[in-house]
Amino acid sequence: MPSNNKTTLIQRAAKARLGACAPYSQFQVGAALLTRSGEIISGANVESASYGLTCCAERVALFSALTSGRREFVAVAVVARHPGGAMPCGACRQLLAEYAPDALVWVADSDDPGTIREFTVRELLPGAFVTFEPGKE
Ligand code: THU
Repeated sequence: MPSNNKTTLIQRAAKARLGACAPYSQFQVGAALLTRSGEIISGANVESASYGLTCCAERVALFSALTSGRREFVAVAVVARHPGGAMPCGACRQLLAEYAPDALVWVADSDDPGTIREFTVRELLPGAFVTFEPGKE
């Protein structure tokens, strides 16, 4: 993956982060997905007074991408103000394993966006549960 793609996607995640609705945690996160055709779809976390309804930036971006017809993802960038960047939570790893299994995951600290850590979705959720046969026990 060319490094300019990586830098661009991190920049887009950093920009998306500014749209976070995080009045409870004040922890603002931005995410950006890169499709195989080069499109970028981004999102940010949205929190609720009913805490469990909160949705992470990664899932907001993924749901937006999926519901606008995008299917093939090559990378996802996540930016938060956190040393080394924030890692996707377990719920987001599950969704990424299902809908972006071949994607690279780039994470960065908004205060140090030039330092980018790289993972794969597969390594973040080994042995993911991604399919089942309905009706079978
Ligand atoms: N959060 C994300 O949006 N993505 C992550 O990778 C980690 C956590 C959000 C959820 C919640 O709004 C806030 O960060 C604190 O957990």
